[in-house]
Amino acid sequence: MASSSSTNLPPLPQVPGTDPSICVLDSFRTSIAKRISDAFPSLTLEQAYSGVDYGKKGVDFTVALPRFRLPGKVDELAKQVISKFQPDDYVSSVTHDKAFLHFQLTTPTLIRSILTQVHDFTHSSTSEYGANTLGKGKKLVIEYSSPNIAKSFHVGHLRSTIIGAFLANLYKTCGWEVVSVNYLGDWGTQFGMIAHGFEKYGSQEELQKDAIKHLYQVYVKVSADAAADPSVKVDAAKWFKRMEDGEEEALKNWRVWRELSVKKYEEEYERLNVKFDVYLGESMVGKEWQDKALEKLEEMGLISDAKGAKLVDLEKWKLGKAVLRKADGTSIYLTRDIGGAIERYEKYKFDKMIYVVASQQDLHLAQFFKILNLMEFPWAKDLEHVNYGLVLGMSTRKGTAVFLDEIIREATGVMHEQMKKNEEKYNAVEDPESVSQEIGITGIKIQDMAAKRINNYTFNWDRMLSFEGDTGPYLQYAHVRLSSISRKNPNLLPLPAPSQLDISTLTTSAQAREIVFLLGTYPDVVKTALKTHEPSGVVTFAFRLSHAISSAWETVVVKNEEDEEKAKARMWMYLCARDVLGAAMRLLSITPLERM
Ligand code: ARG
Repeated sequence: MASSSSTNLPPLPQVPGTDPSICVLDSFRTSIAKRISDAFPSLTLEQAYSGVDYGKKGVDFTVALPRFRLPGKVDELAKQVISKFQPDDYVSSVTHDKAFLHFQLTTPTLIRSILTQVHDFTHSSTSEYGANTLGKGKKLVIEYSSPNIAKSFHVGHLRSTIIGAFLANLYKTCGWEVVSVNYLGDWGTQFGMIAHGFEKYGSQEELQKDAIKHLYQVYVKVSADAAADPSVKVDAAKWFKRMEDGEEEALKNWRVWRELSVKKYEEEYERLNVKFDVYLGESMVGKEWQDKALEKLEEMGLISDAKGAKLVDLEKWKLGKAVLRKADGTSIYLTRDIGGAIERYEKYKFDKMIYVVASQQDLHLAQFFKILNLMEFPWAKDLEHVNYGLVLGMSTRKGTAVFLDEIIREATGVMHEQMKKNEEKYNAVEDPESVSQEIGITGIKIQDMAAKRINNYTFNWDRMLSFEGDTGPYLQYAHVRLSSISRKNPNLLPLPAPSQLDISTLTTSAQAREIVFLLGTYPDVVKTALKTHEPSGVVTFAFRLSHAISSAWETVVVKNEEDEEKAKARMWMYLCARDVLGAAMRLLSITPLERM
């Protein structure tokens, strides 16, 4: 693991839960905490540490004195800290403002230790800067995307895919072993409908060309038939019953449909930079556990009969009533989820399982979590639903998008047009098609992850694909610009070792200090995201960093700097900034571009 020892900071006691070899700001915080606990002997170092927060604009760290509930007036308390204060390599000053103490860190050590840490991580192959080992030895199963075969891949699925991919990356970055699961909607009465419809509307040729699209078309047609003729549904239900009973003849086509659909999805996920370790599906959930669940609930007196169907009563927990088995004995979405969770536990023995599913299904998830809990599985408490709000107004120029490839194609097309507007730049792009696809996808992802998950948002191509404002293209542009520094200044490369660089030009620049401080906060950004499961914190970080960089371009120059020592130190900072911005983008499942 990279360490900050090369910066020779004075020794400090170790606060539990901190790790300066991963986040050097932990040392600076500890130094502040020590000043607090030295002033108030009733406080432990750890208690004091928990009160050291990031400051508001222009302030490095702030301590709100009242939170310690110490006897005495805040003014007196503040004096006790200030009267003993001695500046050192960690902290240079303290000021008192009402109930708060504001601390400024010592700039030269701050800058050198952060940049050295970023540098050391980037040049070691073990792990990326920002990573931690909080999940060491633990296993996560995370389910996301989970579209339904033969139905549309709607933006809800897209959101699950984007947020899920981020979370899978995040847990890996935090040392967890991660199993990512795509739980396909590949079972249920709709397959009876398609089986029925395929006899009339199916085409092997179309199926081979694009299974997802063709099955959807068949489904749309047969649904229209069903609306006009009720016997279609009856026939479809019979088909599905035969499938549930494992009748090979009824399953033959279905198997091909599933396989071709998965293949097509895999290609599309790859374009999104999203991967799954396993493709499970509703079809794969065995009967055994579904039956056992029903038995157990019956024993508990929670099941009632409704015209042959089995109904579970969860009113006691304010979770309503739900059908667990249909009158014809066929299984149901809810029961399959119960059986599926048990099977996954048997197989993976996970420490945690996350379901990334839209908030429209809050009740469904709560119901099956509750049922597993009633069945007294000790791991039922380790299931977590990560939900998210609706996406409104997703349409392409051709109308409402129903397939993932349409969404990707539209993003690519709109972005391509956007790029063409600047002819000179456009002509310099080597492969405009793939660049516009990557930027287009970045635009979609950033728009999706920019706000709190639970918020609804309106899809807006213009806004998300603009190079101005807090958009995906803007982030890509920031990364490309940082990447161009080494191309434009080959004479400065390779840079000397960190300890050989004279950083005085950085310590005297407020812009440089701001950039470096932000880089230092990145390990905390990762940790916070793990707690909140919110990608928005990482997105905000990426934008703040990009903004700080863009306000430094004019004053902290590399290219036209005559003093080579200065130019090298600045270049070092920009390269570190590129690496951290790149790390944040990768965490968000975005591929940072080197050129555009
Ligand atoms: N296929 C479902 C749908 O599109 C989502 C599946 C969510 N996951 C689950 N385990 N129920 O609505």
